[in-house]
Formats: sequence, C-alpha cells, structure tokens
Amino acid sequence: ESRDSDDEQLTPSAPHRRRSKLAIVGAGAVGSTMAYAALMRGAARTVALYDINSAKVNAEVLDLGHGIQFMPMAEVVGSDDISVCADADVVMFTAGAKQKPGQTRMDLAEATISLVRKVLPSLVEVAPDAVYVMVTNPVDIVTYAALKLSGLPPTQLFGSGTVLDSSRLRYLIAQRTGVAVQNVHAYIAGEHGDSELPLWSSASIGAVPLLEWNGLGEHGPLTAQVRDEIAREVVESAYRIIEGKGATNYAVALAGSRIIEAILNDERRILPVSSLLDDFYGISDVCLSVPTIVGAQGVSDRLAVPMSVDELAGLRRSADALRAVAQRFGL
Ligand code: 2OP
Repeated sequence: ESRDSDDEQLTPSAPHRRRSKLAIVGAGAVGSTMAYAALMRGAARTVALYDINSAKVNAEVLDLGHGIQFMPMAEVVGSDDISVCADADVVMFTAGAKQKPGQTRMDLAEATISLVRKVLPSLVEVAPDAVYVMVTNPVDIVTYAALKLSGLPPTQLFGSGTVLDSSRLRYLIAQRTGVAVQNVHAYIAGEHGDSELPLWSSASIGAVPLLEWNGLGEHGPLTAQVRDEIAREVVESAYRIIEGKGATNYAVALAGSRIIEAILNDERRILPVSSLLDDFYGISDVCLSVPTIVGAQGVSDRLAVPMSVDELAGLRRSADALRAVAQRFGL
C-alpha cells in the first residue's frame, strides 16, 4: 500500500484496511465529491458509487478513475445496479432531493423519506454488515426514518449530523481569534439545520476555555455579540452557498471522509454525528448530534459534555422540533 508511513504507524493493526470498501449511494454533487475526497485521503481501498442514473454514475467513475494514478492506491467502481455496494464496510447515503434556494432542509423530508424507504432494504440485503451513515437531508429525520425502516441497531446506522456545522463553527472562531482552526475545539449540537446550537460553555482554544478568551493581538475577545454573530453565520452558511452555486459539496465531502476514516480505521474519534439518543440528559427517541465516539462498530458512547442551562434548553428545543417533524411523517 502506498500510504505515508505516519498514517501506517498510527493504524498498524486495522485488519480490514487493505480490502476496505466504501460504498456511496448517490453520484450527485455530494456523493461524487465525497468519493473524490475519500480517494484523495486514501480512506478506502475500493470506492463504489451507486446511482439510478447510469450515464451520470458511469461518467463520474470514469473521471475519478482517470485520476487514480495521482492518488493513494485505490480502485473506483460504479453502477446503476445496487449490487455494486455488496459487502461494503461503510455505506454513505447521499442520494436525495436537492435543496433549492429558499428551501429549508426540512422541506425535503417527504421526498427523501420515500427514497430511503425504496432504496435501503435492498442496500441492507447486499451489505448487511456495513456501518451506515446517512447524509441526505433533513439528515436527523432521514436517520430516524432509516433506523425504523431497516431495523438496524442504532450503533450501526447514524447520520453525518453536525460534523460539517462544527467545522464551519471552528473556521469562524479561527478567523475571529487568529488561531489555527485545528486548535479550536467547539461543537454545534442538535439538528443539522435551523434549530442547531453551539456549545460555547465547553468550547476551548488551545487549552483556554473559549468563554475566558481575552483576545490576541489585533483580535478582540469573543463577546456575546460576536458569539451570536458566529452562531447565526453557521446556521446561514448552507443557504448562502446554495444561493451562490446551487449546492454545498466540498466541506460536506471532507466531513464525510473524516467519518469514513474514523470507522474504517476504528479510530474512536469524537465526532458530533446524529444518532438515536437514549436518555442523553433526559433526551430520548430522537436522532440528533452530540459529541459521540465513532469507530469500527459505528457509534458507541456519547460524551456527557458540560452544558449551561441555556444550552441544555436549546438542545431540548431542537429535540422537540425534530420529534414533531418525525411524528408528522408517522415515524
Ligand atoms: C449543508 O449544510 C446543505 O446540509 C447541507 O451544507
């Protein structure tokens, strides 16, 4: 294998490493870019793309395949036949209706739930042992629906959640503080959508609690007003991008690859993915994002992050909003 030596040292004993197979359902902007990101990062040995549009999936596979020479060792296959996903270790579900300018993610619920109902059973048949990661929006509702429809254990199926929103949050904090984004630790929790919220009280920059950050050089402190601006900008990010280019694809693809690598390398990463909660601070029977351990078996433990009274109330509001939508769709 042509991975760099650091990477090998970090993951010396991943048993399925050499033969790891990633299947991506949907060869649209998100699915294709996720295949590209995963290939570039050497996340899996085989990347399989599935889409009902055979011309589109074949074209994406050709274009990706022509670049394999310049990537870590891998192969890419694709088809409009679902058996291309057979025996996958990870399935990323990206297929679904596209969010138009002015629409919210929730507006897609009806169309995407019926798509999941159609595709998921045959997918689980060909890849029964895969870890399933739902990416299609509204991701928390889609994840909840997929759990109900498939009967898969809630460890094995979860959603990409707010991994992307959290990276947007960190990006904005990094810009406002003049510190590298990699040294910012902060999570967006709740719905991947309008009711999401930043967990400021547990956020840190380096080892400095974010709420005690006094500024650095020409960068001022993160006042309540600045924090509110950042939170609003995170929520509005996708709308802005969709307005400008019709879809978001790069950052979501990289966030997806981060999740894929956590699973295939059994990393036990803390990632804010959307999973079925069971008495998380009293919140149950809803899929939403909180910092969660992700490894080869899928999701395991959720972190008991310290939260302020307001944050916990915000998380409960987000859970209630999601539960109301799930009920509306008879889930
Ligand atoms: C995003 O947040 C639209 O959910 C997609 O980029």
